[in-house]
Amino acid sequence: MELWDYAKLGENELLERISVARKRQNAVILAHNYQRIEIQRIADFKGDSLALAKQAVEIDAPVIIFCGVMFMAEVAKILNPQKTVLIPDIQAGCPLAACATAEDIIALKQKYSDYAVVTYVNSSAEVKAVSDIICTSANSVDIVESFPQDRGIIFTPDKNLCHYAKVRTGRDNIICWDGECYVHDRFTLDDVRASKMKHPGATIIVHPECPPDVQDAADLIFSTNGMFRYVEEHLSEPVVIGTEIGMVERLHDEFPQTPVYPMKVRAICSNMKLITLAKVARALEQNMYEVNVPENVANKAKVAIERMLAVS
Ligand code: 13P
Ligand code: SF4
Repeated sequence: MELWDYAKLGENELLERISVARKRQNAVILAHNYQRIEIQRIADFKGDSLALAKQAVEIDAPVIIFCGVMFMAEVAKILNPQKTVLIPDIQAGCPLAACATAEDIIALKQKYSDYAVVTYVNSSAEVKAVSDIICTSANSVDIVESFPQDRGIIFTPDKNLCHYAKVRTGRDNIICWDGECYVHDRFTLDDVRASKMKHPGATIIVHPECPPDVQDAADLIFSTNGMFRYVEEHLSEPVVIGTEIGMVERLHDEFPQTPVYPMKVRAICSNMKLITLAKVARALEQNMYEVNVPENVANKAKVAIERMLAVS
């Protein structure tokens, strides 16, 4: 069956096929918080990058269907080389991860030879392999603080998360790589101001990939799981969420009683949205697309990822 044959099937039939195939394959479905809501609803586990990386270590199943973007599926594969990791669309990359190459990092390391390289998980496996440690949006401060205060740090590839870590740790010996996420970097101070006018009294929560002025104007800055936890613990309180729209959809789905407003309805990661029920059904029935990381790269990247998991 070709993709268009799956796409012609109704939702019920796709769900039935997914249910049969996941049992037959003994597969586990992991989904990031930005996935389409119908994908989140079929997931065994949902979460942010850190939670999904941790989950990938715990999984006791031979097949992982990763509903997210490529760097996340690569992390699952690096941590589970003996398992089959499938991503339902091979094109689901993260443009932020493409902002720095391994050659870029090696050149910087030559210039700043005594600096440690802290790399955001939104990066290629090759970049991870030349890094000292990985971080996510949930643990960047802890990871930076795992180095002595006087150790210089090269932080790559997201400049806004780097700014966040710099401010929170009070360190100025951090060099930020000049990369950004096209979804989060487009949030503006005007968006924050407009949200405050429209929803007075609501708590404004933004992702640390948003620009510095947006971070400064917000009430709270959290990873996507941090946002989820906050709403879970403040069920009746209104919140404005400044991140990709899939997070807002998850909150509406799971906490229908809580007033959750998106800061920007058009904050859409088109890469995350490439994953559809039709493609998940095809992935399960036809083992598409298998994620592989060259062994020499995977072994080095694994050291940097495991250092992160030991810290957080
Ligand atoms: P989280 O780890 O906070 O879910 O962020 C991942 C991401 O890609 C943000 O754009
Ligand atoms: Fe990458 Fe931005 Fe999409 Fe997150 S939202 S996966 S950083 S492009």
